[in-house]
Amino acid sequence: RTVAVVLAGGTGTRLGLGIPKQLLKIAGKPIIEHTLAVFEAAPEIDEIIVLMATGHVEDAQQIVEKAGLRKVTKVIEGGDTRNATTRIALDAVGPQDCNILFHDAVRPLLSGRIVRECVNALWSYDAVDVAIPSADTIIQVDENDCITDIPVRSRLRRGQTPQAFRSPTIRSAYRIAEDDPDFAATDDCGVVLRYLPGTPIKVIDGSDENIKVTHPVDVHLADKLFQLAAAQAPRLTDHRSYSEELTGRTIVVFGG
Ligand code: CTP
Repeated sequence: RTVAVVLAGGTGTRLGLGIPKQLLKIAGKPIIEHTLAVFEAAPEIDEIIVLMATGHVEDAQQIVEKAGLRKVTKVIEGGDTRNATTRIALDAVGPQDCNILFHDAVRPLLSGRIVRECVNALWSYDAVDVAIPSADTIIQVDENDCITDIPVRSRLRRGQTPQAFRSPTIRSAYRIAEDDPDFAATDDCGVVLRYLPGTPIKVIDGSDENIKVTHPVDVHLADKLFQLAAAQAPRLTDHRSYSEELTGRTIVVFGG
Protein backbone atom coordinates (compact mmCIF):
# COMPACT_ATOMS: atom_id res chain seq x y z
CA ARG A 1 0.00 0.00 0.00
CA THR A 2 1.25 3.46 -0.87
CA VAL A 3 0.04 6.47 1.11
CA ALA A 4 0.42 10.11 0.06
CA VAL A 5 0.69 12.45 3.02
CA VAL A 6 -0.16 16.03 2.11
CA LEU A 7 1.49 18.43 4.55
CA ALA A 8 -0.74 21.47 4.97
CA GLY A 9 -0.10 22.34 8.61
CA GLY A 10 1.58 25.69 7.93
CA THR A 11 0.08 29.16 7.93
CA GLY A 12 2.08 30.82 5.16
CA THR A 13 3.61 33.74 7.05
CA ARG A 14 5.91 34.68 4.16
CA LEU A 15 2.97 35.08 1.81
CA GLY A 16 1.22 37.11 4.49
CA LEU A 17 -2.44 36.48 3.63
CA GLY A 18 -5.11 36.27 6.31
CA ILE A 19 -5.58 32.56 5.52
CA PRO A 20 -3.14 29.63 5.16
CA LYS A 21 -1.76 29.86 1.63
CA GLN A 22 -2.88 26.32 0.76
CA LEU A 23 -6.46 27.66 0.80
CA LEU A 24 -5.69 30.45 -1.69
CA LYS A 25 -7.46 29.99 -5.02
CA ILE A 26 -5.27 29.73 -8.10
CA ALA A 27 -6.75 28.84 -11.49
CA GLY A 28 -10.21 28.59 -9.92
CA LYS A 29 -9.37 26.14 -7.14
CA PRO A 30 -7.70 26.23 -3.72
CA ILE A 31 -4.02 25.33 -4.03
CA ILE A 32 -4.48 22.22 -1.90
CA GLU A 33 -7.25 20.94 -4.18
CA HIS A 34 -4.88 20.99 -7.18
CA THR A 35 -2.32 19.09 -5.11
CA LEU A 36 -4.79 16.47 -3.90
CA ALA A 37 -6.10 15.97 -7.44
CA VAL A 38 -2.64 14.89 -8.62
CA PHE A 39 -2.51 12.09 -6.02
CA GLU A 40 -6.16 11.18 -6.60
CA ALA A 41 -5.35 10.65 -10.29
CA ALA A 42 -2.09 8.76 -9.73
CA PRO A 43 -2.60 5.00 -10.11
CA GLU A 44 0.37 4.34 -7.80
CA ILE A 45 -1.37 6.01 -4.81
CA ASP A 46 -3.88 4.01 -2.74
CA GLU A 47 -4.67 6.44 0.04
CA ILE A 48 -4.26 10.14 0.87
CA ILE A 49 -3.95 11.66 4.36
CA VAL A 50 -4.18 15.43 4.83
CA LEU A 51 -2.56 17.26 7.74
CA MET A 52 -4.18 20.67 7.97
CA ALA A 53 -3.40 23.91 9.79
CA THR A 54 -5.07 24.46 13.16
CA GLY A 55 -8.55 25.91 12.78
CA HIS A 56 -8.87 24.91 9.12
CA VAL A 57 -9.51 21.16 9.22
CA GLU A 58 -13.15 21.74 8.31
CA ASP A 59 -12.17 23.91 5.32
CA ALA A 60 -10.00 21.07 4.03
CA GLN A 61 -12.75 18.50 4.65
CA GLN A 62 -15.17 20.60 2.62
CA ILE A 63 -12.73 20.86 -0.25
CA VAL A 64 -12.25 17.08 -0.23
CA GLU A 65 -16.01 16.43 -0.20
CA LYS A 66 -16.85 18.99 -2.86
CA ALA A 67 -14.16 17.69 -5.18
CA GLY A 68 -15.21 14.06 -4.56
CA LEU A 69 -11.71 12.92 -3.69
CA ARG A 70 -12.27 9.26 -2.82
CA LYS A 71 -8.72 8.35 -1.85
CA VAL A 72 -8.63 10.80 1.08
CA THR A 73 -9.17 8.74 4.26
CA LYS A 74 -8.24 11.27 6.94
CA VAL A 75 -8.11 15.05 7.33
CA ILE A 76 -6.51 15.90 10.66
CA GLU A 77 -4.69 18.73 12.38
CA GLY A 78 -0.94 19.18 11.80
CA GLY A 79 1.72 20.17 14.34
CA ASP A 80 3.58 23.34 15.28
CA THR A 81 6.49 22.60 12.95
CA ARG A 82 6.79 20.70 9.71
CA ASN A 83 8.63 17.87 11.52
CA ALA A 84 5.88 17.75 14.16
CA THR A 85 3.34 17.49 11.34
CA THR A 86 5.30 14.57 9.85
CA ARG A 87 5.30 12.78 13.23
CA ILE A 88 1.52 13.13 13.50
CA ALA A 89 1.22 11.79 9.96
CA LEU A 90 3.32 8.72 10.84
CA ASP A 91 0.86 7.89 13.63
CA ALA A 92 -2.09 8.49 11.32
CA VAL A 93 -0.73 6.13 8.66
CA GLY A 94 -0.99 3.24 11.14
CA PRO A 95 1.47 0.49 12.12
CA GLN A 96 1.32 -1.61 8.93
CA ASP A 97 4.38 -1.43 6.68
CA CYS A 98 3.75 0.64 3.56
CA ASN A 99 5.27 3.24 1.26
CA ILE A 100 4.77 6.86 2.31
CA LEU A 101 5.16 9.96 0.14
CA PHE A 102 5.32 13.28 2.00
CA HIS A 103 4.39 16.24 -0.16
CA ASP A 104 4.06 19.97 0.48
CA ALA A 105 0.43 20.98 -0.03
CA VAL A 106 1.74 24.21 -1.55
CA ARG A 107 3.41 22.50 -4.52
CA PRO A 108 0.28 22.15 -6.65
CA LEU A 109 2.09 21.68 -9.98
CA LEU A 110 3.45 18.26 -9.10
CA SER A 111 3.35 15.90 -12.08
CA GLY A 112 2.18 12.31 -12.31
CA ARG A 113 5.61 11.47 -13.71
CA ILE A 114 7.34 12.51 -10.46
CA VAL A 115 4.87 10.52 -8.31
CA ARG A 116 5.43 7.45 -10.51
CA GLU A 117 9.22 7.73 -10.40
CA CYS A 118 9.20 8.15 -6.58
CA VAL A 119 7.10 5.03 -6.07
CA ASN A 120 9.15 3.03 -8.58
CA ALA A 121 12.39 4.04 -6.86
CA LEU A 122 11.05 2.61 -3.57
CA TRP A 123 11.41 -0.87 -5.10
CA SER A 124 15.19 -0.36 -4.87
CA TYR A 125 15.68 2.28 -2.16
CA ASP A 126 14.37 2.91 1.38
CA ALA A 127 14.35 6.68 0.89
CA VAL A 128 13.81 8.90 -2.16
CA ASP A 129 14.13 12.64 -2.66
CA VAL A 130 13.12 14.87 -5.57
CA ALA A 131 15.43 17.68 -6.68
CA ILE A 132 16.44 19.87 -9.60
CA PRO A 133 19.81 21.32 -10.61
CA SER A 134 20.49 24.89 -9.55
CA ALA A 135 20.74 27.50 -12.29
CA ASP A 136 22.20 29.94 -9.78
CA THR A 137 25.57 29.60 -8.14
CA ILE A 138 25.00 28.69 -4.48
CA ILE A 139 27.28 30.46 -2.04
CA GLN A 140 27.79 29.79 1.64
CA VAL A 141 28.12 32.78 3.96
CA ASP A 142 29.05 33.42 7.58
CA GLU A 143 27.13 35.45 10.14
CA ASN A 144 28.52 38.68 8.59
CA ASP A 145 27.28 37.76 5.11
CA CYS A 146 30.79 37.13 3.83
CA ILE A 147 31.44 34.16 1.56
CA THR A 148 32.94 31.10 3.23
CA ASP A 149 32.50 28.62 0.38
CA ILE A 150 31.26 28.25 -3.19
CA PRO A 151 30.44 24.56 -3.62
CA VAL A 152 30.79 23.06 -7.11
CA ARG A 153 27.43 23.75 -8.76
CA SER A 154 27.24 20.51 -10.71
CA ARG A 155 27.00 18.58 -7.44
CA LEU A 156 24.29 20.80 -5.95
CA ARG A 157 20.56 20.28 -6.25
CA ARG A 158 17.51 22.20 -5.05
CA GLY A 159 15.29 19.95 -2.98
CA GLN A 160 11.57 19.68 -3.73
CA THR A 161 8.92 17.22 -2.61
CA PRO A 162 7.61 14.49 -2.58
CA GLN A 163 10.06 12.73 -0.31
CA ALA A 164 9.25 9.02 -0.28
CA PHE A 165 10.11 6.29 2.20
CA ARG A 166 9.47 2.72 3.13
CA SER A 167 7.63 3.25 6.41
CA PRO A 168 10.05 1.31 8.73
CA THR A 169 12.92 3.60 7.62
CA ILE A 170 11.23 6.93 8.28
CA ARG A 171 9.72 5.61 11.52
CA SER A 172 13.13 4.46 12.83
CA ALA A 173 14.75 7.77 11.90
CA TYR A 174 12.10 9.78 13.77
CA ARG A 175 12.26 7.39 16.76
CA ILE A 176 16.00 8.04 17.11
CA ALA A 177 15.51 11.79 16.54
CA GLU A 178 13.02 11.89 19.42
CA ASP A 179 15.83 11.15 21.89
CA ASP A 180 18.13 13.85 20.50
CA PRO A 181 17.95 17.03 22.59
CA ASP A 182 19.75 18.87 19.75
CA PHE A 183 17.19 17.93 17.11
CA ALA A 184 17.03 20.78 14.59
CA ALA A 185 14.32 21.31 12.01
CA THR A 186 15.06 19.62 8.72
CA ASP A 187 13.14 18.04 5.88
CA ASP A 188 12.27 14.35 6.18
CA CYS A 189 15.22 13.12 4.09
CA GLY A 190 17.39 15.20 6.44
CA VAL A 191 16.06 13.18 9.38
CA VAL A 192 17.04 9.90 7.65
CA LEU A 193 20.44 11.30 6.62
CA ARG A 194 21.22 12.39 10.16
CA TYR A 195 19.80 9.54 12.24
CA LEU A 196 20.20 6.57 9.90
CA PRO A 197 23.55 7.47 8.30
CA GLY A 198 24.56 5.15 5.50
CA THR A 199 21.00 4.76 4.20
CA PRO A 200 21.18 5.52 0.47
CA ILE A 201 18.70 8.25 -0.43
CA LYS A 202 17.99 8.15 -4.15
CA VAL A 203 17.41 11.48 -5.86
CA ILE A 204 15.07 11.62 -8.82
CA ASP A 205 14.52 14.56 -11.19
CA GLY A 206 11.96 17.10 -10.07
CA SER A 207 10.71 19.83 -12.38
CA ASP A 208 10.93 23.60 -12.70
CA GLU A 209 7.13 23.72 -12.57
CA ASN A 210 6.96 21.93 -9.20
CA ILE A 211 7.35 25.26 -7.38
CA LYS A 212 6.57 25.82 -3.72
CA VAL A 213 4.20 28.77 -3.42
CA THR A 214 6.14 30.79 -0.86
CA HIS A 215 6.32 34.48 -1.83
CA PRO A 216 3.74 36.70 -3.60
CA VAL A 217 5.53 36.33 -6.96
CA ASP A 218 4.98 32.56 -6.80
CA VAL A 219 1.22 33.08 -6.89
CA HIS A 220 1.53 34.81 -10.29
CA LEU A 221 3.96 32.21 -11.52
CA ALA A 222 1.74 29.30 -10.47
CA ASP A 223 -1.28 30.96 -12.09
CA LYS A 224 0.63 31.36 -15.36
CA LEU A 225 1.86 27.76 -15.25
CA PHE A 226 -1.71 26.47 -14.78
CA GLN A 227 -2.82 28.63 -17.73
CA LEU A 228 -0.06 27.19 -19.88
CA ALA A 229 -0.93 23.66 -18.82
CA ALA A 230 -4.60 24.16 -19.64
CA ALA A 231 -3.95 25.87 -22.98
CA GLN A 232 -1.35 23.44 -24.29
CA ALA A 233 -1.70 19.88 -23.07
CA PRO A 234 -1.79 18.00 -19.76
CA ARG A 235 1.78 16.90 -20.34
CA LEU A 236 2.97 20.50 -20.00
CA THR A 237 2.98 20.11 -16.22
CA ASP A 238 5.91 17.76 -16.73
CA HIS A 239 9.29 19.44 -16.88
CA ARG A 240 10.75 17.28 -19.61
CA SER A 241 7.83 17.45 -21.97
CA TYR A 242 7.45 21.17 -21.34
CA SER A 243 11.06 21.69 -22.40
CA GLU A 244 10.52 19.44 -25.39
CA GLU A 245 7.45 21.45 -26.31
CA LEU A 246 9.39 24.71 -26.10
CA THR A 247 12.14 23.26 -28.28
CA GLY A 248 9.54 22.07 -30.75
CA ARG A 249 8.01 25.51 -30.99
CA THR A 250 11.40 27.12 -31.51
CA ILE A 251 12.06 24.78 -34.41
CA VAL A 252 8.71 25.68 -35.98
CA VAL A 253 9.49 29.40 -35.69
CA PHE A 254 12.91 29.11 -37.32
CA GLY A 255 11.66 26.62 -39.90
CA GLY A 256 8.79 28.94 -40.86
N1 CTP B 1 3.86 22.64 6.99
C1 CTP B 1 3.18 21.76 7.84
N2 CTP B 1 3.20 21.98 9.20
C2 CTP B 1 3.86 23.03 9.73
C3 CTP B 1 4.56 23.92 8.88
C4 CTP B 1 4.54 23.70 7.50
O1 CTP B 1 2.58 20.80 7.38
N3 CTP B 1 3.81 23.22 11.04
C5 CTP B 1 3.73 22.47 5.54
C6 CTP B 1 3.14 23.71 4.86
O2 CTP B 1 1.72 23.73 4.99
C7 CTP B 1 3.62 23.58 3.45
C8 CTP B 1 4.94 22.81 3.59
O3 CTP B 1 5.00 22.32 4.93
O4 CTP B 1 2.73 22.84 2.63
C9 CTP B 1 6.13 23.69 3.25
O5 CTP B 1 6.29 24.71 4.21
P1 CTP B 1 6.34 26.27 3.95
O6 CTP B 1 6.32 26.62 2.52
O7 CTP B 1 7.42 26.81 4.80
O8 CTP B 1 4.89 26.67 4.50
P2 CTP B 1 4.46 27.59 5.68
O9 CTP B 1 5.10 27.15 6.95
O10 CTP B 1 2.98 27.63 5.63
O11 CTP B 1 5.01 29.03 5.19
P3 CTP B 1 5.87 30.11 5.98
O12 CTP B 1 7.19 29.44 6.28
O13 CTP B 1 5.97 31.27 5.05
O14 CTP B 1 5.08 30.43 7.23
